[in-house]
Amino acid sequence: MIAIYPGSFDPITLGHLDLIQRSSILFEKVIVAVLKNPNKTPFFTIEKRVQQIQECTANIKNIEVDSFSGLTVEYAQKKQAGVLLRGLRVMSDFEQELQMAHINKTLENKIETVFLATNTELSFISSSVVKEIAKFGGSIDHLVTSNIAQDLYSNIRNK
Ligand code: PNS
Repeated sequence: MIAIYPGSFDPITLGHLDLIQRSSILFEKVIVAVLKNPNKTPFFTIEKRVQQIQECTANIKNIEVDSFSGLTVEYAQKKQAGVLLRGLRVMSDFEQELQMAHINKTLENKIETVFLATNTELSFISSSVVKEIAKFGGSIDHLVTSNIAQDLYSNIRNK
């Protein structure tokens, strides 16, 4: 079974990475799919985010990294995937994620959403918090890989 792990990944965090590692054991192939979202102004370009994810997942054989636009279920069908994978960190994630799973089910009944609980020790991490700490010069080494920490700091310096 092929799974799609869709998201913004702006940038990918250690929480995302943990989920990718664990899901790679459960599925034949996991496609990490970065959404080209016209409604959001991202911190990193789509190309950069794809490259960052490729770098930190290079050691996992059955991971593919891609970008997409439009509906996630349509992209999943194109990739012949049967599962959409999402992480749950805290209870407050659940409400929105459940709604999204229901909506996706009404759009395409054959595609199932599978939730994985985020590693307890990483459940407080979000891409927004990482960016905020980096902007104020705080340490983010326990939140993202060293390559991404460097990318964040150099982007902030150049802005
Ligand atoms: O990392 P994020 O921002 O929480 O990811 C949200 C994402 C990309 C999974 C979601 O916004 C999405 O699937 N967008 C694509 C448009 C779509 O399919 N919408 C219908 C489901 S709400």
